[in-house]
Amino acid sequence: MVLGQPAATFERIGQGDTRIHYDSTGYKSDSKSLATLRGEAVDLMGLFDSPPLGLPPMADTQNITAPIVALGRRLFFDRRLSFNGTLSCAMCHIPEQGFTQHELSTPVGIEGRFVKRNAPALYNVAYRQTLFHDGREDSLTRQIWGPLLAPNEMGNPSMGSVLNRLEQTGEYTDDFIAAFDTDINVLVLGQAIAGYQRALLSANSPFDRWYYGGESTAVNATVKRGFTVFMNNDCVSCHQLDDNGALFQDGEFHDTGVGYFDSLVRTREPQRLQVAPGVFINVDTDVLPPRLSDLGRYEATGISADRWKYSTPSLRNVAITAPYMHNGAFGSLSAVIEFYAEGGVPHEGQDERIRPRDLSGRDKADLVEFLQSLTGSNVDALAADARTTPIGDY
Ligand code: HEC
Ligand code: HEC
Repeated sequence: MVLGQPAATFERIGQGDTRIHYDSTGYKSDSKSLATLRGEAVDLMGLFDSPPLGLPPMADTQNITAPIVALGRRLFFDRRLSFNGTLSCAMCHIPEQGFTQHELSTPVGIEGRFVKRNAPALYNVAYRQTLFHDGREDSLTRQIWGPLLAPNEMGNPSMGSVLNRLEQTGEYTDDFIAAFDTDINVLVLGQAIAGYQRALLSANSPFDRWYYGGESTAVNATVKRGFTVFMNNDCVSCHQLDDNGALFQDGEFHDTGVGYFDSLVRTREPQRLQVAPGVFINVDTDVLPPRLSDLGRYEATGISADRWKYSTPSLRNVAITAPYMHNGAFGSLSAVIEFYAEGGVPHEGQDERIRPRDLSGRDKADLVEFLQSLTGSNVDALAADARTTPIGDY
């Protein structure tokens, strides 16, 4: 697809969205114009009781109740959670775009500010041992304060200011009483939003119906071959599965070369800038997004060996959660597979399992088909359920 193509050719996108200047325009999206969005509720509590086929048993549902989940869902869509009332959680974690966003490699925060990392998809986040690409949080209840207080995300100056603003809407008092038997406070705000996110369980994919359900025709021979390539090339050592279920993650951090490469690209040449007719200065930046360095896990631990290590993402629903990697470096699954086949970007510290691999064209194509078989059966239902919620606005 060509950048700058007129909006008229994108019939599924609402008015005002031309995709001009997007990093990627070739993606498939189920986003519809606001006018055509229709909500349809799903029994989210039922998902806790019996997680979809292929997910391990839930360790702990932390006393989540239907009123908590419904309240959390409303908050997730409330733009008044941001300082200027423009940005909700759902605007970077868009339900129809796999609870991430496809348009840019990294999302845009409040007042157009640059955010340095790709928004992770939120499916099955209840199972994650650590949160964020660098694992700097481990509790969903506390995690909300990351985006709420980040000056380049939702831009709030303090926790209290968020609570006050929600109180002043007067719309939530009864719901907090119903869900927690208390007025809004720091703890229950986190518990409500976490409750909704924990309910975003998605599996029962064609792969699951074959591998865990024993349905031999749930996937075709290509997917089965792709799974063998996945098992034989160390992929499974980081993107793990076992007899209890598959999360395709290991709770660890690895240097795959993506972060290292990014650090090379970020070293831009100084720019020669004309500040007045005939007057030039050299500046080491330009009007593009600021060059925020990203050292990965190191930013959470301060240990030098953790530099450029990032959390292993789950591969569930990966076909609908582009772009990929912590910085959204790749727009398609085939680009990711090409990266692995080439062996990353060799440098000291890169995990030894990331090395050049002799994968044929067919192996690569089969791998992609296998990854595409990991899309859960309820992704459309979860998106429709999300749209039963009114968008909180001034
Ligand atoms: C401006 C876009 C933006 C907004 C708004 C936003 N997020 Fe995020 N979210 C991100 C990005 C980017 C990351 C990854 C950041 C990192 O790793 O440093 C992230 C990470 C997360 C994670 C961690 C997931 C994982 O697998 O590690 C959760 C959970 C999450 N966000 C939930 C929320 C909630 C809840 C809200 C609203 C209170 C919210 N986000 C608002 C962009 C956003
Ligand atoms: C050493 C551990 C390791 C191995 C081996 C590994 N991966 Fe990964 N994988 C990761 C990490 C870590 C990331 C995230 C990197 C980042 O965010 O920069 C990732 C990212 C991905 C992604 C992008 C997911 C997303 O949502 O962004 C895909 C797809 C993927 N890997 C598939 C594979 C395949 C296929 C193989 C085998 C050829 C493989 N991986 C081997 C650790 C590994």
